[in-house]
Amino acid sequence: MSTEAPPLPAVQTAGLTRAFGALKALDALELTVQKGDLFGFIGSNGAGKTTTLRILATFLAPTAGMARVFGRDVAREADAVRHVIGYMPDFFGVYKDMEVTEYLDFFGACYKIPAAQREKTVGDVLELVGLSEKKGALIGALSRGMQQRLGLARVLIHDPELLLLDEPASGLDPRARIEMMAILQELQRMGKTIIISSHILRELETLCNRVAIIEKGRLIYSGPVQGVRDQMAAGRVLWVTVSSDPVQALELLKSRPEVASAEPVDGRIKVTLAGAEIDHSVVAHTLVTGGARLTGLQEDELGLEEVFLRVTRGETQ
Ligand SMILES: Nc1ncnc2c1ncn2[C@@H]1O[C@H](COP(=O)(O)OP(=O)(O)O)[C@@H](O)[C@H]1O
Ligand SMILES: [Mg+2]
Repeated sequence: MSTEAPPLPAVQTAGLTRAFGALKALDALELTVQKGDLFGFIGSNGAGKTTTLRILATFLAPTAGMARVFGRDVAREADAVRHVIGYMPDFFGVYKDMEVTEYLDFFGACYKIPAAQREKTVGDVLELVGLSEKKGALIGALSRGMQQRLGLARVLIHDPELLLLDEPASGLDPRARIEMMAILQELQRMGKTIIISSHILRELETLCNRVAIIEKGRLIYSGPVQGVRDQMAAGRVLWVTVSSDPVQALELLKSRPEVASAEPVDGRIKVTLAGAEIDHSVVAHTLVTGGARLTGLQEDELGLEEVFLRVTRGETQ
């Protein structure tokens, strides 16, 4: 039996919370990303993706809880964290009048890469993102897809282990998106850990080995992409309370083909519908016509099914 300690996760958060005034943008978020993951971070607009990435990038302090990057605390060991991450914000800076190489050389200098070495480093990252032909071009003259790839080159300049990419594919045409995805796969093969956010599950489902879905600052799913579909197929969860005999209510519910399962949990009945498309009024109708006294009917608090459908279709609030 091995006595080696398990490898440190690339990212681990516990109880991670960030409030803006009365709003909890992140609410006790638990997130684990393993080294080598190409990890999709999914949620509709306002779900808390950017807030999370900014905390991991040490640009924003958590209100409560902790976040570690390769074991280092983002609040207490920010400098060490900054060296191992490359953060690409959702909003690309405006350096339109700069040349491609000038721009990358500038960031190389910021990371204190010696001048003699910078030319090679800049050449290497441009090669990686497929922009070697554009060395002398003005940034403003590049297509949107190329600008995004240049943004990627910028965050690679200090050879970070973890990339935090905030919606890098948004606003790209399908071809530019495919090019971006191919580069990310290549980076994963090189051993990088990558977190990429999107509000569209479909955009990431063939790319990522794992995904997390957040909504209102809370984690609602984390695992393989396939698991999302399994959970969707299982349909939504309703919580039922009756003032009549709960055993009778359970029998009534179980007799319906629309109900996948019904079980007593803490004085309530947890009902899982057989499909995402089933109208939950079938539950109320079954109970009432069967003679049960229905006193409460509530959808699962986070509206899982609703969220899954929305992120799967690529809709936002
Ligand atoms: N600096 C800020 N001040 C106030 N509210 C903010 C700030 N940044 C984000 N928020 C709010 O926090 C929530 C999460 O935002 P964000 O992390 O940007 O979500 P996402 O990136 O998933 O769209 C939103 O309701 C947003 O309005
Ligand atoms: Mg965002």
